[in-house]
Amino acid sequence: MTPRYLLALDQGTSSSRSIVFDRHGTIVAMAQREFRQIYPHPGWVEHDPREIWSSQLATAREAMAAARLAPADLAAIGITNQRETTLLWNRRTGEPIHNAIVWQDRRAEPLCAELREAGLGPRVQEATGLVIDAYFSATKLRWLLDNVGGAREAAERGELAFGTVDSWLLWQLTRGKVHATDVSNASRSMLFDIRRNAWDEELLRLLKVPAAVLPQVHPSSHLFGTAEAEFLGAPVPIAGIAGDQQSALFGQACFAPGLAKNTYGTGCFMLMPMGTRFETSSNGLITTAAAQPDTTPQFAFEGSVFIGGAVVQWLRDGLRAIESSAQVQALAESVPDAGGVVFVPAFTGLGAPYWQADARGAIVGITRGTTVAHIARAALESIAFQSAALLQAMSRDAVAAGGAPVTELRVDGGACVNDLLMQFQADLLGVPVVRPQVIETTALGAAYLAGLATGVYGSLDELSAQWQVQRRFLPTLPRDRAQALMAGWEHAVRQATAP
Ligand code: G3P
Repeated sequence: MTPRYLLALDQGTSSSRSIVFDRHGTIVAMAQREFRQIYPHPGWVEHDPREIWSSQLATAREAMAAARLAPADLAAIGITNQRETTLLWNRRTGEPIHNAIVWQDRRAEPLCAELREAGLGPRVQEATGLVIDAYFSATKLRWLLDNVGGAREAAERGELAFGTVDSWLLWQLTRGKVHATDVSNASRSMLFDIRRNAWDEELLRLLKVPAAVLPQVHPSSHLFGTAEAEFLGAPVPIAGIAGDQQSALFGQACFAPGLAKNTYGTGCFMLMPMGTRFETSSNGLITTAAAQPDTTPQFAFEGSVFIGGAVVQWLRDGLRAIESSAQVQALAESVPDAGGVVFVPAFTGLGAPYWQADARGAIVGITRGTTVAHIARAALESIAFQSAALLQAMSRDAVAAGGAPVTELRVDGGACVNDLLMQFQADLLGVPVVRPQVIETTALGAAYLAGLATGVYGSLDELSAQWQVQRRFLPTLPRDRAQALMAGWEHAVRQATAP
């Protein structure tokens, strides 16, 4: 019998998870472990690379045991990961030369300011689709080369390997035999030309990054290597890799323009496929490589909301309005609406489409009748308002590029189970918001990519046919009312960004 199960390794910012899927995309077993967040300095965030690996391996073994499967039942492993997080290790010993610098870490901002002042913005955007920001890997890598003793010399001698988390896991699973990544992860480095699918030699020179540290780049669906027998009990091919947001886009079967996905986590990440057309945004979005089943470059627009579900954590830990996050829906539903209150959770500034780094949170429209329930409802609504502003920006960009506006938003991530939030999202957008049967779409995307490379699936059409709706939220609010709500939101944003 041909093996029919797929194991997805989903290495996220706060936990490592592993999920076993059958060939219909149904979850058979799942395991999860949290690991340490290290904050050595305000604005710095690190992970211990060994903990990333050990927690990931432990969950892979736990999920396989829970699924009661033998390694021979697996067709392949797919890897999906927190993106941009930067590692540098010694090729001979396999030892990391420093902790991983996490995507949220802001230490490289002074270098980014220099690059922006030097006028490099348009050059970087033209090749990589990105704006110059400390979020991406390039300036984190440069920081490591400049600040860890002997690193630059060792890198120039070819002794060091750079990688994002996917490359690190691949290196571990193959016991140092393979140093590679996929196009979707490479596209977050700010060193990769996404139109040519090749490292950009001029950017490498400008950023002072020796080419000898770079991994090989392959399509996202590809036979990357084989996990050694010692890990799962027998060798298993590793046949799919994608950054977590691109993987979710793939797992949502968003293959055509007009479909977009939004992942509701601590923050929210919205992506819309652009097909093979490279376009840059005029509305503050970035262009990124989509997960690619073959060598043809494919693109997506992306925008992110910094404080999504984190606003509920603030209601719990900051305002102490609720004891557990799960209580927010009941409290918000205890009032018919937010009573005119609008909450802009710009705790760490505002991202796309506003890009106001020094904006701060604001709650406006408070009256004598305002209760904590109205504030809770406004907090939940803020997740939908911010996502709606992103989707409007995406539609504007898509139409300007001669494409279609977004006609359906597919949702995943923890907060998509909140019906109140999803209905409000559909009402604001005026397009259906669709929740699939499997909301673990990040892991599912990696499983699909691995399954495509190993013959479990024959085509993207097969994957599209497999994608099943769990619930469709249709807009019920008259458009003029939705527009008035958006206008109220934009007014509140101006309060949050006023000097
Ligand atoms: O770009 C960062 C993103 O990939 C992180 O995702 O799910 O680990 O928070 P997550």
